[in-house]
Amino acid sequence: MSDRYALIGNPVAHSKSPSIHAEFARATGQDLEYGLVEAPLDGFAATVERFRAGGGKGLNVTLPFKQEAFRLCARVSERARHAQAVKTLVLETGFGDNTDGIGLVRDLSQNLNYRFRTVLLLGAGGAAQGVVGALLEAGATKVVIANRTVSRAEELAQRFPGVSACSYESLPEEAFDLIVNATSAGLGDETPPVPSSFLSSKVLAYDMVYGRETPFLAAARRAGARTSDGLGMLVEQAAEAFFVWRGVRPETRPVLAKLRGS
Ligand code: ATR
Repeated sequence: MSDRYALIGNPVAHSKSPSIHAEFARATGQDLEYGLVEAPLDGFAATVERFRAGGGKGLNVTLPFKQEAFRLCARVSERARHAQAVKTLVLETGFGDNTDGIGLVRDLSQNLNYRFRTVLLLGAGGAAQGVVGALLEAGATKVVIANRTVSRAEELAQRFPGVSACSYESLPEEAFDLIVNATSAGLGDETPPVPSSFLSSKVLAYDMVYGRETPFLAAARRAGARTSDGLGMLVEQAAEAFFVWRGVRPETRPVLAKLRGS
């Protein structure tokens, strides 16, 4: 029988993860299957345990369970500890990792070929938490976190030396190389209120939401900024999870090109 893996979340129905991992498995000759597990909102731990007891080897965790997964792990990686959120579970050992940050940074550096020093990160929820450490490790000299609820941005910023927090009304009057939308605003067809003066042709505006142009990306495009959705991040973080589980690093470019239909 093939080794079993899955994405666990609520909802999970429209995820591209199964087709990404199926491509990785085919390309690397790994014998595994990757499915979808929808856990009830109050039944994450029990659902994980059922999957493990049934022979499941690993899980990728998505909304809204990443923080709960962190609390469930016997041991976590340094990057998961920084994020206080777990994205990838190795069920045999109870090990948890967070591959979001490396996924974003690899997409920026390898797929988009974009160099940056200064970053404005929008949002302070699970998605934002996963990437601050990796942005700093990738060489960001300045990271400012803006959030609707400023206290959440402050709580996240204080975990990382040199990172600062603010509200959308008190953004510093300076240009950033990279603006990352890590809010869930785009899912509801809304946009975080970033003044268009921040969105110039010298900026890459990146939205972690994938598969469509969010209002944030549309505003950035209209202002002349370079834009990207989060599809590359999804594929890159999946490749890192695959590596954590199988010790083999799949090539991401062909999979990304196929998903983009090019
Ligand atoms: P996730 O794991 O996707 O980050 P989350 O932890 O619920 O989900 O966080 C959602 C983030 O999107 C938060 O930063 C939230 O701001 P608040 O902390 O102030 O709630 C942000 N967000 C959601 N909808 C938004 C909107 N319409 N405008 C601005 N920010 C929004």
